[in-house]
Amino acid sequence: MTDQQRQADAVFRELFGRPPVVAAAAPGRVNLIGEHVDYCDGFVLPMAIEQETVIVAAPRSVAGGEPVARLHSTAFAETVELPLTPNAAPPAGIPGWSRYLAGVIAGFLDRGATIPAFDAVVASTVPIGGGLSSSASLEVAMATLVAAVAGHAIEPVEVALLCQRAEHEFAGVPCGVMDQCASVLCIRDHLLLLDCRSLAVVQVPFQRPDMVVLVTNSNVRHALNDGSYAARRADCQRATAILDVPSLREATLAEVEASRDALGDTIFRRARHVVTEIARTLDAAAAMACDRWDELGELMAASHASLRDDYAVSCPELDLLVELAAAQPGVIGARMTGGGFGGCTVTLVEADRADAVKAAVARGYRQGTGRDCAMFTTRPAAGARLVQVSLP
Ligand code: GLA
Repeated sequence: MTDQQRQADAVFRELFGRPPVVAAAAPGRVNLIGEHVDYCDGFVLPMAIEQETVIVAAPRSVAGGEPVARLHSTAFAETVELPLTPNAAPPAGIPGWSRYLAGVIAGFLDRGATIPAFDAVVASTVPIGGGLSSSASLEVAMATLVAAVAGHAIEPVEVALLCQRAEHEFAGVPCGVMDQCASVLCIRDHLLLLDCRSLAVVQVPFQRPDMVVLVTNSNVRHALNDGSYAARRADCQRATAILDVPSLREATLAEVEASRDALGDTIFRRARHVVTEIARTLDAAAAMACDRWDELGELMAASHASLRDDYAVSCPELDLLVELAAAQPGVIGARMTGGGFGGCTVTLVEADRADAVKAAVARGYRQGTGRDCAMFTTRPAAGARLVQVSLP
């Protein structure tokens, strides 16, 4: 049992007066390359990080009445009750964190699952609002748990889609499918090359024990439900309408360039980012599989420049972090990761240089912004799973 599971277990016993009998875990993710292309049917290359959400639970016997889930969050020190009856509206004004869980429950009820009353405690080590998919890890952990408690068989890809829908309908973020797929499908020591059109995957091995992934949080707040993320999606839709293609996956760079005047400068830049980023992602997966690390580094740099200049989702703090990291010896590549507008950068670095890189970046960031950044290194971690089914 990890420290986190032990903590959730202890809170459960204290709150509900009995031990939990089942637990599910689901990781956050960091995306190595393939940014802002999942909702354009593109390719992405994320990996699970070691930080994850854990939910411990036990069914509760109820005499009569409608079944409800009692859910407690250790992060917010709040407990909510959610109905488990089909078509029952979640209580009005429930806290933000519980909306994701309500969305997952609604998804299972829509599939015809019968969910018995249960109690649960949610604990997470994924930083909230840092662009590391804390919400996807929460949804996917909940879905993994509910499938077990309800005895409801569901394919992994269906879990990801159910969780994406929860995010759309209950959290108001029109996200693509990358984060939920990563949290469900990733496996240890691999990156996930995901085709967001077919949802086919290739598990790309990352077997270099001499390299780590350094994640640096700019500590600039990242909120994707403020309209800027939806605005980028709308820009891409306008581009597909003008180019007359079903999605930007179907457009070539030559076609985008030939339609520059019709697209107008902003939409042209958005489309150019998407088509070039899709190509870079496939090149990056091949470079990684074939040990061509210099090429991977160049692709990461080009991805960042495209997100900064064409897609306009970076910010000065992320640009500075990337610039500082890229200048350090032992760094293979660095770029912003996730939705942007703040959040994190990802840096691929030789393991024995990681401490020196961290120190130099932290110092430069403080000097340049007056802010502290938060950093951790991780190896590609495991996707969602049940982690404990114990007897009292
Ligand atoms: C957020 C969304 C994802 C994806 C990324 C950008 O993380 O949830 O679906 O669009 O931004 O690549």
